[in-house]
Amino acid sequence: MDKLRIEGGARLKGRIAISGAKNAALPLMATSLMAQTPLILENLPELADTACMAELLDHLGISSHREGQTVTFSPCSAPVTHAPYDIVRKMRASVLVLGPLLARFGEARVSLPGGCAIGTRPVDIHIMAMKALGARVELEDGYVLATAPDGLKGGEVTFPVVSVGATENALMAAVLAEGTSTLINAAREPEITDLAECLNAMGAKITGHGSSAITVEGVRSLDGCRHAVVADRIEAGTFALAAAMTEGDVTLTDCRPRHLEALITVLRETGALVEATENSLRVQGQGRPKPVDITTEPYPGFATDLQAQFMAMMCIADGVSEISETIFENRFMHVPELVRMGADIQVSGGLARVTGVDQLLGAQVMATDLRASVSLVQAGLVANGTTIISRVYHLDRGYDRLEDKLSACGARITRERG
Ligand code: UD1
Repeated sequence: MDKLRIEGGARLKGRIAISGAKNAALPLMATSLMAQTPLILENLPELADTACMAELLDHLGISSHREGQTVTFSPCSAPVTHAPYDIVRKMRASVLVLGPLLARFGEARVSLPGGCAIGTRPVDIHIMAMKALGARVELEDGYVLATAPDGLKGGEVTFPVVSVGATENALMAAVLAEGTSTLINAAREPEITDLAECLNAMGAKITGHGSSAITVEGVRSLDGCRHAVVADRIEAGTFALAAAMTEGDVTLTDCRPRHLEALITVLRETGALVEATENSLRVQGQGRPKPVDITTEPYPGFATDLQAQFMAMMCIADGVSEISETIFENRFMHVPELVRMGADIQVSGGLARVTGVDQLLGAQVMATDLRASVSLVQAGLVANGTTIISRVYHLDRGYDRLEDKLSACGARITRERG
């Protein structure tokens, strides 16, 4: 298994181009199941997770062909509606094929994704949404078996909690349902807006995306289209935090700072200088960061996917900060590893109290999930000495050429193949 070796102490300086968003790419790829003609996605990041979704789509009868950052997804004539455990268990987002398969073919048999490192993450809301659109759903041998032999019917879907994935599944299903659907308490993440814009370009009739009430007029069929995947706000946020905490000066290009308002506000409160344009973000660290309290919330609040990275920064802050995680239980897997690097963190339920230390120390640490892993990279960048991070396959799930992008800004980071 590969490891990352980081020699701490370098200030990040330079420019980093931000890739397409993993969390937008995965549902966009799933829409190819509903298209009658090829779907062409530009700016599609090369990640373990996008490769896994391509493998699942291949199994379901969609072939894909990559040329640089552009991938064409072509339907074949004999679709398969069974998403097997062996592929789904590798990536929870595989459940995003449920809505498209059901809407297009009237049936889907999708393995339950099972547990994962950041909590139980059930799919009950996805199932509720499919039922609200007229599907019959049963659980059988670890699979969700959903059927709608006469097609889905438009309906009202009220989400009990804001769920990104369930909103996406419901949106994709509603597009080919007969009549009008309304999604109430829908997630407002930019990745959902991106999905709705792509679906509209394919012939769907969606309005209200980006708000918590989305309306969908069902259509009979969808064609493919050409669509560029929105920039990854989490990748941009991660590099912004790394730049600030190394007292660096980094300009992020090809990004959408308007999707990062909560982070930018907090970064400025820590004392960093932040200059945003429409599609670039310059971050300059200014000495030791000031402590700032945060609470994770659905968009437009502070993203749970940036919580670990922000905690890494607060580990070296000049004072005490409180970090409250409200989206996922058990999303503090990075804490014991940061503590091994000299951080002072007390966790009580969903609250972490971080007392900043003068200096983190290099150590051998282990990546546990995607965002936890990158927080260890950030800690390694500012630590005294050498940090070796094992199990970096977690990082490869969601960061496109992470070491290359950081090295180009002066980080001393190398991958040891194993
Ligand atoms: C997506 C993102 C993930 C991000 C998360 C929250 C993708 C591929 N992943 O995950 O990176 O951290 O949004 O911004 O886009 N829940 C249920 N039942 C359900 C579905 C969700 O109880 O059927 C709960 C979850 O356990 C969690 C909360 O709802 O506590 C929000 O989860 P959700 O927004 O669904 O996360 P994902 O879509 O899985």
